[in-house]
Amino acid sequence: MKALVLAGGSGTRLRPFSHSLPKQLIPIANKPVLEHVLGNIRDLGITDIGVIVGDRAGDIVNAIGDGTRFGAWVTYISQPEPLGLAHCVRLARDFLADDDFVMYLGDNMLPDGVADIAREFMATRPAAQVVVHKVSDPESYGVAELAPDGAVERLVEKPKEPSSDLALIGVYFFTPAVHTAVAAIEPSDRGELEITDAIQWLVESGHDVRAREYTGYWKDTGRVDDVLECNRRLLDGLRPAVLGQVDDASVLTGQVVVEAGARVIRSRIEGPAIIGAGSLVEDSHVGRYTSIARDCELRQASIRSSIVLESATITMLHDVCDSLIGRSASVGSPDGGAGHRLIVGDHTRVEVAA
Ligand code: DAU
Repeated sequence: MKALVLAGGSGTRLRPFSHSLPKQLIPIANKPVLEHVLGNIRDLGITDIGVIVGDRAGDIVNAIGDGTRFGAWVTYISQPEPLGLAHCVRLARDFLADDDFVMYLGDNMLPDGVADIAREFMATRPAAQVVVHKVSDPESYGVAELAPDGAVERLVEKPKEPSSDLALIGVYFFTPAVHTAVAAIEPSDRGELEITDAIQWLVESGHDVRAREYTGYWKDTGRVDDVLECNRRLLDGLRPAVLGQVDDASVLTGQVVVEAGARVIRSRIEGPAIIGAGSLVEDSHVGRYTSIARDCELRQASIRSSIVLESATITMLHDVCDSLIGRSASVGSPDGGAGHRLIVGDHTRVEVAA
């Protein structure tokens, strides 16, 4: 069995971050979403993984490499334009050959894993098996209508008036029967080759298409608030470890990770929280549910429930919360100057309490 991971696409909902970083590389608990995805796939015993990449291919290849770090072998497949999920299956035809495969969207987090669902697919081999999860906003997703025995009767992509609350959550198991389906369908009204249409084609052609419900935690990390919520959820399972330096004037409470080479000086860290490798936290307060990536600097700052990406600096700024701060960004008032001086890039959002 092989895996096909989709890491192309445009990520418009994650602007401004997706201007400079593919959304699949946004860190959750200091690890890119895509690494979490590859870990889940390797946990299924699958080591032959194709990764679809778009115009941010270079960043993804730099971050993931040839996959040996994850005990896998990664083959990159280029998608010049994001023409849809079923288009990705068409492009991967040679890589997939006639093997069964799991298709996994590179921005979906299922930290509780899909091992049981995969085992069932391998044992029963329906033409397709989709993974569904009950949601309160089915109009934002592809949804499945099921018969009482779990057979899929109908799939609809982002229905205006949903008749089911079971969303497709980014993991699909296929036999090679799907290749005929993706070759047969036409682009949808939004101009994409939809995988929901390909699976619907299988249903209408009399193939066995099944759905299995995933009851664990799931998040499509397409928006900033989803990324922050997912980060909080993963930090809840953090195992404390202090590998860096913490001076005697600092206090750590709860589950705190201080990575190698990090320094905590005259500061208070309230877990769950991670201070990334090589970062400096000085005269500061890092509150619960905060992930600080590598090589950041916090001086006279306080922050909680936030993600700070690598090499960012926060200086003389208090009460930063629910924030996502990009790579090498600098916030605060390093010179202690009066007024708010803002140098803000495209599609950036700054919310300042009065
Ligand atoms: O998150 C679950 C939802 O994902 C499902 O419920 C929907 O049925 C499914 O269509 C998909 O909807 P999204 O609108 O969230 O898809 P998005 O455009 O975000 O793409 C999902 C992943 O696939 C993302 O990692 C980018 C990648 N992708 C997307 C397209 C359209 C590609 O690699 N190539 C593409 O052409």
